Parts: sequence; structure tokens; C-alpha cells
Amino acid sequence: MTSPHLALPIDETSAAHLARQHLTMRLVDTADAADHTAWSDAVTRGFLGPAAPADQTEARRAHVLDDRLVGVYDETSAVPAEPVASTHCWPAELTLPGGHAVSSWAISGVTVSQTHRRRGIARQLLEAELRTASALGLPIAMLTVSESTIYSRFGFSPAAFARDLTISTRRVRWTGPRTTGRIHHVTPDQLRHDGHAVVERVRALRAGEVSHPADGNLWLRRIGLGIGDDNAKNLRLVRHDDGDGVPQGFAVYQLVENEADFTDHTLRLHTLVAATPDAYAALWRFVLEMDLVSTVTAHLRPVDEPLRWLIDDFRAVHVDEVDHLWVRVLDVPAALSARTYATSGRVVVRVTDDLGFATGTYAVEVDDDGRAAVSATDGAPDATVGVNAVGSLLLGGVSARTLQAAGGVTGDAERLDELFRSPVEPFLSFWF
Ligand SMILES: CC(C)(COP(=O)(O)OP(=O)(O)OC[C@H]1O[C@@H](n2cnc3c(N)ncnc32)[C@H](O)[C@@H]1OP(=O)(O)O)[C@@H](O)C(=O)NCCC(=O)NCCS
Repeated sequence: MTSPHLALPIDETSAAHLARQHLTMRLVDTADAADHTAWSDAVTRGFLGPAAPADQTEARRAHVLDDRLVGVYDETSAVPAEPVASTHCWPAELTLPGGHAVSSWAISGVTVSQTHRRRGIARQLLEAELRTASALGLPIAMLTVSESTIYSRFGFSPAAFARDLTISTRRVRWTGPRTTGRIHHVTPDQLRHDGHAVVERVRALRAGEVSHPADGNLWLRRIGLGIGDDNAKNLRLVRHDDGDGVPQGFAVYQLVENEADFTDHTLRLHTLVAATPDAYAALWRFVLEMDLVSTVTAHLRPVDEPLRWLIDDFRAVHVDEVDHLWVRVLDVPAALSARTYATSGRVVVRVTDDLGFATGTYAVEVDDDGRAAVSATDGAPDATVGVNAVGSLLLGGVSARTLQAAGGVTGDAERLDELFRSPVEPFLSFWF
């Protein structure tokens, strides 16, 4: 049976709008190799990438057969079969505070050809995707972004942040716990097999993580097995097994030589995933104590990473922080009732939304177990919250008082913080 997100017709409102510009918006037929390849080439070009080799096109297509691909076509283009704009969406599970995962609309592959930019095509695509998600009954849309200036206007807002670390390993002395278990060098195929279960355990524990199947390109990319991953040969992979021999973590890294000084290698840590504190400490120690390495760089790390507490020099670690996962709430009762809260209580929130999806006043009543019943109310609001702020508050990692300072929240921000702030910072460990 066809999945609902594949069966749903193209959004009529945006299609009609684009038709007035003599553009055709339609679903890409992933069963048609040529149609898919033309779309895929447009996406790659939109992100400034090189054209994909012909021998990769079938593998790329195989990975998106269950995804909803949209193209916008201009019959007057020199290559009319190639879309001038694209989106790539699929339903994925987003973990919320408390560990419940809610099916959400993952939006990716948003491109508009250089020849067709700044005439409102992306706006039509984005608004269409929000209506599509809403029609599918998905309460949340989400994306990771190339630029942080694009998506606020559509109601998205940063909800999970990430850090890039640069570590001077010569300044580091390990003061963290001694660990049990052992570390193995493993092959990509071994990690492909063993690593996904670790990722799944972590996903259940961390608000902000997003499901990605064990046979999907998003997972394979993390371990250097993604389609066209020409850096794979440079990657080293290690796995941490606990005392019972159960894989509990892994790291993927690359060593970059300083030709002038062989003791001055840089270790680029692509991924370090640990399901237990033991695996976390063992893998970081392994990375930091590598001979001939003076610098470790680590991309996409959680903002509450304990690392600096496990070494004796806090300032050995330089931190850059970026927004990472952007969230857009479409259905306030469904989204807010799917997470848990720090304390019991009641707050009435008026939500404003220029696009209308989330507009309303809602009573959030949290019981002693931290579970919320959320319903529309005529009651006077304790706080008024823009839909962007709702997205940021949803994962528990952004303070309502901070958002109040920026005008996204008015009213009782302290009350919102008491309920919404989470003791575990949300985090997403990959790009999509
Ligand atoms: C980003 C991109 C999709 C925008 O497409 P576009 O069709 O030119 O955008 P639109 O004309 O529909 O613009 C919609 C709104 O976004 C704004 N906007 C568009 N691109 C923007 C950018 N790069 N930075 C800030 N604002 C931007 C427009 O000013 C417009 O604002 P308004 O409607 O509030 O007046 C396109 O420039 C692109 O493909 N970029 C390269 C790939 C990329 O980065 N994609 C995003 C992936 S997350």
C-alpha cells in the first residue's frame, strides 16, 4: 500500500500560485529513473556540489523511493526536464523531552536554481510543505539549515544547538573515570551492522534526535558509507564494547598529517556516539591520548558535553556554538502533549502564527507525572508566544526568558520556564 505521504496530491495552492508564473509544481516520479536523476542533479547544483557520477544515480534513487520529492519545472528552460526548484521530505520520528518520539515532517533538499531565485518560489515550496505536513496530521515540521536567515519567516526556530570543538591535546590530562570494556578498531561493514543499535538507544534518550533507518543514506553517511562518499578511505572507525561484549559506542575519525612536523597531526572527529557513560569516557580518552596528534577537532557535539569536566584544563577546549535543528509547530495540542514537563501545573498560552496553523489559546495542564493535557480554551492567557518561540520551547533547550528579551514571548515567561525547561539539553547528532 502506498504511504499517505506519497499518495497525497501536490499542494494546490502553491501549484496554482506558481502556475501564474508559468511554472509547474509536481511530485517527482521516483519510479522513473530519468525524472529522479534530473531532480537529483538540480538539488546537487543548488547546494553547489559537483554533478553526481552516472554510476551513483541508481543508488541515490533507491534511497529516496519512500520519500516525497517535489520539483518546480519551467517549460521555457533550456533543459525543461530539470526542475528549477526542489524539496525532499519524509516523515521521521523526533524525540521530545521525556523520550516520546513524535512523527514529524523532515524537510530537506530545498533549492531554487540560481536563475530563478528571489521571486517567491521557495516561499511557495515551504508553505506547501507545511500544508502537506498538516494534511498528513503531522504536528511538527523540522529541518537543518544552510543559513539561519531563511526559515524564521515560515515559523521555524532553532530548538537544538550544537558545538564544534577544537582541543589542544597537549594541554589535556585525563582526569575522568577509569573505564571498563574495550575498544576495537572495526571495519565500516562491522560498524554498519553494530552501530545503528547504539544510535537507536541514544535517540530514545535525547530530545532532538531524529530517526534514520539502518539501511538509509543518512546513517551510512555517518560512518563513511554514504553514496559517493569519497572520503571513506580516510576514515578510522572504533567501537566500544562493554564488559559483556555489547557494543555501546563508536567513533569515526580522520587523521590529517602536518607534513612539516610528524608529531603534529590533527584528528578530525566526525562522530562519537556513546550509549553509556563508560563508552563516552573510553572513546574520548582514546581520541585525546592518541600519539602524534596535537589537535582534535570535533563537529556537531552536544552543548552539555561533559568532556571539559573529564580533563584537567578547561581551556584546552575551544567552543563554537551554532543553531542546528529548527522546529516548526503546526498542531499545538498534539506537539505539546507529546512531551513531558519538569513540574506539574497549569499555564494558558496564546499562540500567534502568521500562517495560521498554530493560532489559538491553549491550556497546558501538567499532572504529577509530568504528562500534559493540552486543549483550546477561551481563558485569559498567562503568556503570549509566537509560533517560532513555541518551536524553540518544545524541546526544552531554550529559555522563555531569553525569548521574552527578543519579543517572542510576552507575559509569564518564568512560569513557562518552570514547566518547559528540560534538565537534558536537546541535541541532534547529524545533518539531514
Ligand atoms: C535559499 C533559497 C532556497 C531561497 O530561494 P528563493 O526562491 O530565492 O526564495 P524566495 O524568493 O521564495 O524568498 C522567500 C523569502 O526568503 C527570503 N530569502 C530567500 N533566500 C534567503 C537567504 N539566503 N537569506 C535570507 N533570506 C532569504 C526572501 O527575501 C523572501 O523573504 P520575504 O518573502 O519575507 O520577503 C535559494 O537561495 C537556494 O537554493 N539557496 C542555495 C541552497 C540552500 O541554501 N537552500 C536552503 C537549504 S536549508
